[in-house]
Amino acid sequence: MKGIVLAGGSGSRLFPISKVYSKQLMYLYNKPMIYYPLSTLILGGIREILIITTPQDADSFKTLLGDGRSMGLNFQYAVQPKPEGLAQAFTIGKDFVGKDAATLILGDNLFYGNLDFFKNALSSHAVGAKIFGYVVHDPERYGVVEFDNKGKVLSIEEKPVKPRSDYAVPGLYVYDESVVERASALKPSARGEYEITDLNRSYLKDGLLTVQKIGRGVAWLDTGTPHALLEANNFIGSVEQRQGLMIGSIEEAALRSGFVSAEDFMTVINTYPKCDYTTYLRRIHHDVIAGK
Ligand code: DAU
Repeated sequence: MKGIVLAGGSGSRLFPISKVYSKQLMYLYNKPMIYYPLSTLILGGIREILIITTPQDADSFKTLLGDGRSMGLNFQYAVQPKPEGLAQAFTIGKDFVGKDAATLILGDNLFYGNLDFFKNALSSHAVGAKIFGYVVHDPERYGVVEFDNKGKVLSIEEKPVKPRSDYAVPGLYVYDESVVERASALKPSARGEYEITDLNRSYLKDGLLTVQKIGRGVAWLDTGTPHALLEANNFIGSVEQRQGLMIGSIEEAALRSGFVSAEDFMTVINTYPKCDYTTYLRRIHHDVIAGK
């Protein structure tokens, strides 16, 4: 299973904050935003990850994340020349995905809580597409999925004026090997974008789309507007303060997923500056060795 983080886009809803640099490089409490979706993929057991950015931000992402090798990961990079839609991730990432299955996560989506819903989707994945449904109070802002009374998917619509349900589709999508071919066959929508909803519809039409509902124990936040950004900051700060555990550390995710040995982990951490993040990672190292 390959992973893609789509971290391009114009960030127009965050203008002027997003005028100079990418929103996925902005901080969310104590880490850059992209750490959160990246750590979700890593905790799901995905180590080969393509990061798609705008041309102007590509170097900054490379400086931030490198090739991931020191943490047992493999980060590769590609650029999206213009924000022409989420499904373009698979035409841009064609060579990277090759003949494999692929999971896409949006660089501004944050999941917190028990990630079994995602791990199970990955471990049971065979043919088709697996996406998720999450109850929100403002479904008109998202892709919306409609179910019949037996839970069968009837439709998916992108930002419908009159949503047919409260189930929004989060920016986390698990696809089989046919994804590149399907994405390549899409036509731009009326707003000129290669829509992820059209890609999902292509699977739905073939009876190959599963939508798994995510329960209330999981928090899904997106950070598309200044207020959503503030809420996400407050949320992460509150949970981290209460528990003393961090959300979205890629180093911790790599260690807990067994991608890096405790020894190599420590070698890397020893190069970090003295700060709360480093102190935390030392503690995690200690806990993992102690089997906690
Ligand atoms: O957050 C989940 C929602 O994400 C889904 O429910 C929708 O079905 C899906 O279309 C998407 O809606 P958004 O309105 O959030 O999409 P947005 O255009 O804001 O893009 C989401 C992220 O992807 C954002 O961080 C920018 C990045 N992006 C977007 C586009 C259109 C790219 O990197 N390239 C692009 O071409």
